[in-house]
Amino acid sequence: MSCGEESVGWIVGESSPTRSLVIFSHDSKLNLSAGMYLVTETSRGCVLGILESLVSGSRLLPSSVTDPNSVNSVISAINQNEMLSETYLKGSVMWLSYLDALEKGSIDSPKVPPLPGTIVYSAKKEDLENIFSPNDKGWIKIGKLSTVDVDYKININKLQRHLAILAVTGGGKSNTVCILSRNIIKELNGTIVLFDMHGEYGDLGLGDKANIRKPVINPVKLSFEEIKDLSRLPENAINQERILRHAWSATIKDFNNNKINVANFMDKFYENAQAERELAKNKREVDGVLNKLDDIKAMYDEVLDPNAPLELKDIIEPGKLTIFDLSEFDEIGADAVVSHFLRRLLQERKLWKKTRSNGYPVPVFTVIEEAHILIPSKRNTLTSYWASRIAREGRKFGVGLILVSQRPKNVNSDVLSQTNNKIILKIVEPQDIEYVQDASEELSQDLAELLPGLNPGEAIIIGSMAKLPALVKIELCNSKKSGGDIDIVSEWSNMNENKEFLEEDLKSVF
Ligand SMILES: Nc1ncnc2c1ncn2[C@@H]1O[C@H](COP(=O)(O)OP(=O)(O)OP(=O)(O)O)[C@@H](O)[C@H]1O
Ligand SMILES: [Mg+2]
Repeated sequence: MSCGEESVGWIVGESSPTRSLVIFSHDSKLNLSAGMYLVTETSRGCVLGILESLVSGSRLLPSSVTDPNSVNSVISAINQNEMLSETYLKGSVMWLSYLDALEKGSIDSPKVPPLPGTIVYSAKKEDLENIFSPNDKGWIKIGKLSTVDVDYKININKLQRHLAILAVTGGGKSNTVCILSRNIIKELNGTIVLFDMHGEYGDLGLGDKANIRKPVINPVKLSFEEIKDLSRLPENAINQERILRHAWSATIKDFNNNKINVANFMDKFYENAQAERELAKNKREVDGVLNKLDDIKAMYDEVLDPNAPLELKDIIEPGKLTIFDLSEFDEIGADAVVSHFLRRLLQERKLWKKTRSNGYPVPVFTVIEEAHILIPSKRNTLTSYWASRIAREGRKFGVGLILVSQRPKNVNSDVLSQTNNKIILKIVEPQDIEYVQDASEELSQDLAELLPGLNPGEAIIIGSMAKLPALVKIELCNSKKSGGDIDIVSEWSNMNENKEFLEEDLKSVF
């Protein structure tokens, strides 16, 4: 019995255990395309591979041709059939695993190369179904293989090794977040918190299983670093930082000694800062701090809410999708808010692991949109600090990081390379592609070359959540609020219609 379905060609040239060149037969009826799975035989057994690249050519029309007339005469001198027999299709295949290991649910990388002249087959659909759509617990469907009608599932348990979703703008990142979050909540009763920088996510069709809310933080739960972030003291304002720290420490002390309560915590903090003025030689420095605190009051009054729940699980409810709408925040505000929740989730999951009664009770995935802004490569942010802590330690405590970005090369490389899983949709910019390759061991040069040509929603998926590298068409997630381009032309023309109505109305009034 052959390893595969239909014979499509033969191995040519030199092969290694993991890579071969294949010349495709003219008789094959199959629509060959990069991303399809092929099989061949080796002395150790059948191996499955992915077709990474495809080139065509003709011996009669080599690239050295310089005279267009000679091309014309070659084509007219021989009939169409002969012309066809002179053309060839060649491809490069990356061999991934022995089929018998895959049947048992594991991966065994090929150790011996296939021999030249060995027949190459298309993979059997039932083999691909066994590999990519297992019925095991914890696997959820996010799309189909691009090249054949087979459901594509990922192993959610492995998402705790973190995930990056990368693409040009409009490539389909938010759609991927939508389908992933929806299925995790619906099918697995999971817990997810999504930091929505543009207020673009609706409830994803989850109804009361989704909470879309403005972030609220009880001030007593802030860290000094967060209040410093919010106060926007310049990096080198050492004296002002000391004043702020004094006032903050005094307030925490008062709170711990029950001299003040949650309701008057912030007022006492402002008072303590004012008290610093009495003692200070340089009053202007303290005035600078007081101005910053006035700004915090004005900008974050709604966020720093003494009535906000103290318990994290009352803000990020287990078993639900919590979407924090950060569309009204600038980068600094968003950084303080996102890092606050990352910090508390990690700290509370650690506490839970130790005590099993205090802390955050369930594993959680955190989705960070616009990761190049919050976790940038060239600056230190608080979110970078806590995201990299989660990237390193989160796995042990059940906190997963899902980074989303359209500028991979501007995302902190330490954090990006800790994301073991990647969903890479269309990327065009060569520097971005190179950067992603550096951060992902499994992304071969040939697969990376497919990235600029992908359609919206088409992705190369690699990492431990996926059995094997795959080219996947992600399912369309219908209930996303927005994301596609705005229909500018209609909006303009509507504005004119509205204006006419308005003018009519005005005429009727006067
Ligand atoms: N899997 C898909 N199948 C079909 N169409 C898709 C798919 N994914 C995305 N699209 C199309 O592309 C549009 C943009 O997708 P999406 O908003 O997910 O992109 P994005 O990468 O998040 O963009 P941005 O960087 O602007 O946030 C969608 O509105 C949809 O029309
Ligand atoms: Mg988006």
